[in-house]
Amino acid sequence: MSNPRSVPGPDEACDLERGDDKPGRMRKLWQRYGDCYRVHSQTRAADTWVINHPDWVKRVLVSNHRNYVKGVGIERVRVLLGNGIMASEGERWRRQRRMLQSAFHRARIEGLFGIWLRQAVALAERWQAAARAGEAVDVSAAVSETTLRAVLEALFSEDLDALERAHGGNPFLLVSSEGRRDLQFAVRFRALGRLVLELAGRRRRERRFPPDLLSHCLQVRDKSTGEAMPERLLVDEILTLVVAGHETTAAALNWVWYLLASHPQVYERVSEEGRLLDPGQVPDWSRLESLQWIPRVIQEALRLYPPGWLYTRRALEADRFGDYRLPAGSDVFICSYLLHRHPDYWERPDEFLPQRFAPQQAAQRHPYAYIPFSAGPRHCIGETFAMSEMMVHVAVLAARLRFQAPAGGPVALEADVNLRPREHLWLRPALWQ
Ligand code: HEM
Repeated sequence: MSNPRSVPGPDEACDLERGDDKPGRMRKLWQRYGDCYRVHSQTRAADTWVINHPDWVKRVLVSNHRNYVKGVGIERVRVLLGNGIMASEGERWRRQRRMLQSAFHRARIEGLFGIWLRQAVALAERWQAAARAGEAVDVSAAVSETTLRAVLEALFSEDLDALERAHGGNPFLLVSSEGRRDLQFAVRFRALGRLVLELAGRRRRERRFPPDLLSHCLQVRDKSTGEAMPERLLVDEILTLVVAGHETTAAALNWVWYLLASHPQVYERVSEEGRLLDPGQVPDWSRLESLQWIPRVIQEALRLYPPGWLYTRRALEADRFGDYRLPAGSDVFICSYLLHRHPDYWERPDEFLPQRFAPQQAAQRHPYAYIPFSAGPRHCIGETFAMSEMMVHVAVLAARLRFQAPAGGPVALEADVNLRPREHLWLRPALWQ
């Protein structure tokens, strides 16, 4: 039994929760110390184990997942999410997952197709107008607004317009318009909980339950106790879905458009396939399922730039990674951004090659070398939602316009809760001739 190699510390260079360019610093440490190393965090006065091997990823997220709680990463966002499904643990989490799961089954997701199509068409019209005027568009702002709208419509459906009328605009817009995630933001965001309770109260009084996520949360019962969701938890779950369902998808779409604009040949293929979905604008799920190239492009973007780029866990009891013994209470970090570029599992790892997600190639890969939606019981509940929404968005927009290659060098990363471009991404749209 041995200890993993330890980065000599403590010093600033080892504090992975602070400072700029965390992925860059983690890459250097990985190149120097390998797939398992230990650093000392000054912030927490504790050791963190960083693992970058898919076998051990499987151990933490899947085969021994009961031994791990979320730890550092979730402590930072708990003030926003309360005890919602993302932040809860143990039996309480299992109950919440059971209650929410059926709302994310494919049959329910299919009902959202029309919303995504409508939004994509509206955005395409805006970007086509910009193309005619020869103007660049703020892609980051647009995808943030559109993914926020998508999740709000999935949550509140017919009540969203009424909410906007009553408040002279969309009260949830601060989620997309404000980049900061500090205490001030948290206070304003949590205040939105009052609106959720008002809406819930009105629906109960009117006995009106349109088929959306809010109605699901109001009507679902805990299978073992038969109890409804308590009010406080209802607020936490709805606010969790607003954040989880919007920021990750928005981050991913930034990268999709950046990569597509930088690879015109791939773009052409995407555009051709997008036309299969677009012409009639009739929501038709089977057409979505027939797409091949567009999902591969999205998967490849999620490989190179996974929005959830760093998973944090804390071991309840001691554990083992191969020869290494992990002490109880240790923090464990899994950096999907680096795992997805591990040269033992990916050929030409830093290149954008969507064809690597063709079924035969994908089947040959280690199943835990690719985890953009995590793995095991706590994997993303919204994966089908997110993938389908992004496919509709990309298909409709790419069929109608293209982007000129972005000027300048590679986009700088902001690796905070999500991995996104540090500055807003501006691109110049053009119409297909
Ligand atoms: C590209 C889009 C998305 C990505 C990359 C993504 C990624 C992830 C990841 C990596 C986790 C696990 C985090 C961890 O274990 O620490 C997660 C959990 C979660 N995601 Fe997503 N997500 C996306 C979209 C969505 C959407 C659209 C929704 C809902 C509408 C959603 C709802 C959730 C929830 C509720 C959890 C917590 C699940 C649990 O703990 O049981 N996500 N997501």
